[in-house]
Amino acid sequence: MAQSEGEYEMSNKLKTVVFPVAGLGTRFLPATKAVPKEMLPVVDKPLVQYAVEEAVAAGATRLVFVTGRTKNAIADHFDKAYELESELAEKKKTELLEIAQSVVPEGVSCLYVRQSEPLGLGHAILCAKPLVQEEVFGVILPDDLIDNGDDPVMSQLVRHHESTGASVVSVTEVIPEHVNRYGVVDAPTFEGRSGRLRGIVEKPEPSEAPSNLAVVGRYLLSAEIFEILEQTAPDHRGEIQVTDAIATLLEKEAVDAYQFEGVQFDCGNKLGFLQATVWFGTKHPEIGPDFKHWLEQD
Ligand code: UTP
Repeated sequence: MAQSEGEYEMSNKLKTVVFPVAGLGTRFLPATKAVPKEMLPVVDKPLVQYAVEEAVAAGATRLVFVTGRTKNAIADHFDKAYELESELAEKKKTELLEIAQSVVPEGVSCLYVRQSEPLGLGHAILCAKPLVQEEVFGVILPDDLIDNGDDPVMSQLVRHHESTGASVVSVTEVIPEHVNRYGVVDAPTFEGRSGRLRGIVEKPEPSEAPSNLAVVGRYLLSAEIFEILEQTAPDHRGEIQVTDAIATLLEKEAVDAYQFEGVQFDCGNKLGFLQATVWFGTKHPEIGPDFKHWLEQD
């Protein structure tokens, strides 16, 4: 059936995940002058590939990357590497060939849209609007790397959505002094791992924060958010915040906060990135035992 503007497919299943990867990554300069932050490797995989694997594990088949001018390496990474693949095939390096070919599994398509100016996360998500066809879509920020073995966070959000029908934002507890770095939720009915949102605020002062539950980079959003983002005014820094749009969304539709299971690393800053490297390094099947041994030496 043809889809007219403003109409979205109804389904509880996740199909599209949006990856906003157009930020400037200034906290990683000079590394990010020419290389996108999302291409920085944790052990042997770029951050953005961890994010893609999480989306695919949750059932996504359409991956939408919101990119910027210096981000061509991301599209190259997910493209077929013809010369490399034929070289590896010729030299019978089958294992390496499989690694190169499995970056995007069969049946999954990658789509790209440009955010011409980094006008904020909300604006980046809005740029994906023409490529999202369903009523509900996922958003993953690759610099929030979360390890939970075989049950990644996006799968947890999908299950929560399937049982409630609500949009979902993932949250984690932070120390009260750090709430002014995050979007923070007001969810007074919190029970178990989730609670219905009554409010959400961006970077509140600790004395004014409604809780210490901070939003982490995983969302499952109703497509209604696009209409709201179009009407959302930029903040004092000139950025359109998705937090502000979610605050409007919850006045119209149910939005839940979900406290995910998993170990989270903020790889947008150097400390978090190094911690992730140590975490994934010690778990790596090839070098993990040696790396651990080396770490434990005086
Ligand atoms: P950050 O807040 O980490 O900003 O963005 P940044 O520009 O990437 O990094 P710093 O602060 O300069 O070091 C969080 C996520 O939102 C995306 C980023 O790519 C990152 O995945 N983003 C942010 C956009 O896609 N567009 C924007 O305008 C802002």
